[in-house]
Amino acid sequence: MTLNDIRGEPTSATNQAALDIFEEAVTQFLGFTGDPVATVQGALEEDPGFVLAHCLYAHLMVTATEKALLPTVKETLHTLAGLADSANERERGHIAAIQAWHDGELAKAADILAQVLLDHPRDAMALQIAHLTDFFLGHSQTLRDRIARVLPRWSKDTPGYGFVLGMHAFGLEECADYAAAEEAGRRAVEINANDAWAIHAVAHVMEMQGRLGDGVDWLTARRAEWEAADILSVHNAWHLALFHLDLGHDEEVLRLYDGPVRAERSDLIIDKLDASAMLWRLHLFGVDVGARWEELAGAWAPHAGDAHYAFNDMHAMMAFAATGRDKEADTQLRALEARAGHGDAGGGGDNVMMTRQIGLPVCRGLLAFGRGNYGEAVEHILPARTIAQRFGGSHAQRDIIGLTLIEAALRAENFTLARALAAERTALKPTSPRNWRFAARAHEGLGDKAEAGAARAEAANLAH
Ligand SMILES: [Fe+2]
Repeated sequence: MTLNDIRGEPTSATNQAALDIFEEAVTQFLGFTGDPVATVQGALEEDPGFVLAHCLYAHLMVTATEKALLPTVKETLHTLAGLADSANERERGHIAAIQAWHDGELAKAADILAQVLLDHPRDAMALQIAHLTDFFLGHSQTLRDRIARVLPRWSKDTPGYGFVLGMHAFGLEECADYAAAEEAGRRAVEINANDAWAIHAVAHVMEMQGRLGDGVDWLTARRAEWEAADILSVHNAWHLALFHLDLGHDEEVLRLYDGPVRAERSDLIIDKLDASAMLWRLHLFGVDVGARWEELAGAWAPHAGDAHYAFNDMHAMMAFAATGRDKEADTQLRALEARAGHGDAGGGGDNVMMTRQIGLPVCRGLLAFGRGNYGEAVEHILPARTIAQRFGGSHAQRDIIGLTLIEAALRAENFTLARALAAERTALKPTSPRNWRFAARAHEGLGDKAEAGAARAEAANLAH
């Protein structure tokens, strides 16, 4: 007899012990805790023909966005093909979504999972994978509305309900509905104090609203909880560092970098992204980071030719540009050019568009910046900035493109552009001292002493 999972959704599994281990892996996946890969492998040892466990394993592989894992995914797809006859309709949806992910067709995978969720709205694994896929696609509205579609089918008694609130919180935040996002995120954290994604969603609200002190307090008070969530600990540390960075606490930023962000020298791309994103900000702000770039660039070097996901490529290029690694930078640019051109012949997946429209121009801009060609950096980055959502990530992560652009404009002495960009930034986040310092430099460049003085005074005032 086939078994239902703990939320009542049907599976083709017949081994309760294996299903119990699988449920634990799903909970780890939802909470970004433990080692869901090892746990799900335990479920497969118990029942080698367990379709959903193979699916979870493959989902974990594809969402790591590591090109090197694709052969493993292919192998799992081969195993799943052999099990297709015993799979139910929900499981066949998962298999099709994994195939789409493997082929780089992320939007197609997201659509397939939407279909699965129509009939199985309490399929927590489908929801989590789809949520992450929406994130990689930069689909803000779907990050919010995919969760809203299923929420009425969940109640506080459904196992994992808090995790769904945390997902909704993040989607609401990406759609700038900050009050609702904070409320949902705080409710999720009340249900489960260790919910690192919900803690993260509330931190995003504070980041977007420029509540720097609140952000430091929120993440500092919950440090033990988010540090315990291994998969998200580097990223939450990065968020804490962002607040400190804006407040001018450079030493604390470096302490966080040397601690939770980079102490373990993680070779996972998702961790290296945050490390690059931190060091590049410090690089833009003129902070000496010593030998840290060299270590990180060395860790990125094997990925120079990947062209697997443009958002990752941007972060690799930061390391190559900052360290003058011309060989890796050129290898990467050639790989991106090849990837960007691939779409004309059809195929290649969503990353073709992402690379052509954002990844390639931004990487060219970063490299120009690294070489001191600031006017050229502006030319490359300016058109890509307004459509950068198309290559995924969060607003907070993509802000590095805007920061690079304004710094390049200032250094290129393109002060009218810098003044306009600073006006954008101070309107969006008037509590950011850094934004007012950008404004002051632009006014100084234009010889407007009064406005420059006022902006400097505002920055000094806010930094206290
Ligand atoms: Fe984030």
